[in-house]
Amino acid sequence: MTLIAPSILSADFARLGEEVRAVDAAGADWIHVDVMDGHFVPNLTIGPAVVAAIRPYTAKPLDVHLMVAPAAPHLQAFVDAGADSLTVHVESEVHLHRTVHAVRDLGVRVGVSLNPSTPVCMLEHVLDDVDLVLVMSVDPGFGGQQFIEATVAKVAALADSIGDRRVTIQVDGGINAQTAEQVAEVGAQVLVAGSAVFAGGPPCYAGNITRLRGIEPRGSTHEPYVGASTGVSASAQTATTI
Ligand code: DX5
Ligand code: ZN
Repeated sequence: MTLIAPSILSADFARLGEEVRAVDAAGADWIHVDVMDGHFVPNLTIGPAVVAAIRPYTAKPLDVHLMVAPAAPHLQAFVDAGADSLTVHVESEVHLHRTVHAVRDLGVRVGVSLNPSTPVCMLEHVLDDVDLVLVMSVDPGFGGQQFIEATVAKVAALADSIGDRRVTIQVDGGINAQTAEQVAEVGAQVLVAGSAVFAGGPPCYAGNITRLRGIEPRGSTHEPYVGASTGVSASAQTATTI
């Protein structure tokens, strides 16, 4: 089955800790955190303080998607806040190779993301160095946008390029039960979903997540990382008391 990473961008921000706890209990595999800087993307969202604040509410991996240009100056702060993986955009880093290795050196998993207009070949020289590739299926910046159909062929091409490397394919934007199946069929292993998970409020979360899991990803050569958080923030140490 595909793994589901609810994007907290669609959660009720006034009750964020409770929302994280609710999607965790409803079966979320990872918690996806969309960080936007009002520069790389036209929206402003959250920073490391919010990651630290939600860290005690889940032991699932906190999957931080940095829509920030440049992302490199902020890596340490998100790791200190308890992130388990950091995904940076190919388009935001002049020195992508350096940024990828900076994330690795901080001891968390590293992802790279492609905007819809960015070709898969941009990854050619970093594919051996990353744990995850995040394919954007909308132009990043907002939840609730429509899935871009060309993503399906792009995910298929990416799966070919990855070959037998242990690199996880993640897709983000406009994921619903139908688009989830389309991308899983060509190799997507982790699906980010905001509006489709949070629709209807907490009583609906488990059903919403189950509907997105759909089919077995085709052709994947390994299981994506699932596991307890390795978050290192001080606040994480209090997780068991909450
Ligand atoms: C878009 C974000 C996504 C978004 C997904 O810029 O990276 O994670 O919140 O939201 P939905 O699932 O509503 O398209
Ligand atoms: Zn995202």
